[in-house]
Amino acid sequence: MKKNTVTLTDNRTGETYEYNIINASRGPSVLDIRTFFADTGMFTYDPGFTATAACDSTITFIDGTKGELRYRGIPIEELANKHSYLETCFLLLNSRLPSKEELTDFDLEIRHRAYLHRGLRKLFDAFPDNAHPMATLSAAVTSLASFYNEHLDMEDENEYLEMAHRIISKIPTIAAFAYRHFLGIPFIEPDLDLSFTKNFLTMMRAYPGGKMHLLPNGHAAIKEVEVRALDTIFTLHADHEQNASTTVVRGVASTGAHPYVAIASGIAALWGRAHGGANESVIAQLEHIGSVDNVEAFIEKAKDPNDDFRLMGFGHRVYKNFDPRAKILKKLQDELREELNLDTELMTIARKIEEIALSDEYFISRNLYPNIDFYTGIILTALQIPKSMFTPIFVIGRTVGWITQWIEFKKDETSKIARPRQLYTGE
Ligand code: ACO
Repeated sequence: MKKNTVTLTDNRTGETYEYNIINASRGPSVLDIRTFFADTGMFTYDPGFTATAACDSTITFIDGTKGELRYRGIPIEELANKHSYLETCFLLLNSRLPSKEELTDFDLEIRHRAYLHRGLRKLFDAFPDNAHPMATLSAAVTSLASFYNEHLDMEDENEYLEMAHRIISKIPTIAAFAYRHFLGIPFIEPDLDLSFTKNFLTMMRAYPGGKMHLLPNGHAAIKEVEVRALDTIFTLHADHEQNASTTVVRGVASTGAHPYVAIASGIAALWGRAHGGANESVIAQLEHIGSVDNVEAFIEKAKDPNDDFRLMGFGHRVYKNFDPRAKILKKLQDELREELNLDTELMTIARKIEEIALSDEYFISRNLYPNIDFYTGIILTALQIPKSMFTPIFVIGRTVGWITQWIEFKKDETSKIARPRQLYTGE
């Protein structure tokens, strides 16, 4: 049977080169150019990898035009509405949803692994009191590699799953400790009686010895609606195919470094405001705008080609119609409005920005829609979570995706060290 190919002609020499098309099970096919340099003596040029598939994967599928996102073939809407974050973790790691018994075992396993080694706890003292939790988190995750320097045998499924469960379980504890260190208040140990998400909220908010007490801001002990909202946020962040931080995780994995170091590199990459740091920047920007009366002026600033100011929480490299995660969160935000105090000045400013941007020619013609970070910023603020914890919360959700991608990379016998080439333009 004739193969599907693309033929390229070099106009300088008239020479032609033929490359095979590899079909995807969904979404765009790829042109297999692995022999391109050997054939032609040229590199391909694609800064930012806008047209380059660096791997094949069975984990997550995105159709940016249709606004579709699936984990292991299951639509994100179904996972967010009918399943918990832990079920989603099991799905990503095992390619199928768990049975009731499997979920109970998995949940117990994750609860039991949440405690930190005593030696690791000392690390927090080395950081200044007001250290950003992302800095402490990435350092602490790197140091995990020194406490657990095993689990690298990719032939042994139990071994690498144990490594994955441990990191999924410990990251919320590290994030909560990093936050409490930032505030200068005592750590709260994980509680085996609490679910994954409620345990995290408790470790962040509770007083030692009295987790049901009121908090200094008058906020009552954790409400179920808050647990549900945060669990949904974790699910929506669980994976997002070859985004910037996942690409970093795979790149570090390709050198043979320890998986926890690869995850720490992903954390560092996520921190930037063009990526996961955008959720913190959304709220910082809303606070900076300060009043609905100033919104129009900031929209004009965002549109000005001579001003590098951007509206945080708008635009996406892949979604060019809408971000399906943002759609779910917008609905959740509307539901929460009934139960939590969402009618603040910040919310009014956010609604005004959303309204103007969605009807403005500049944003429409560039396909700039609110992304997931626009709504997570708003919802997490409503949950009384300080903005320095927004990106650590993204980390908690995304850890399962990073580690699943790490495992996939390691099991792929065709994988190679990540080593792109360059167009040299210097002396
Ligand atoms: N505000 C104003 N203008 C914007 C914005 C924005 N948020 N985003 C893109 N544009 C404009 C650019 O100026 C450019 O305009 P031009 O064609 O007139 O030069 C055009 O839209 C295309 O922008 P690019 O930067 O080429 O788009 P790219 O796909 O490379 O970037 C990105 C995507 C980084 C997300 C960008 O939209 C952005 O910076 N958004 C704000 C930060 C943000 O919300 N990041 C979170 C992304 S979601 C996530 O990581 C979980």
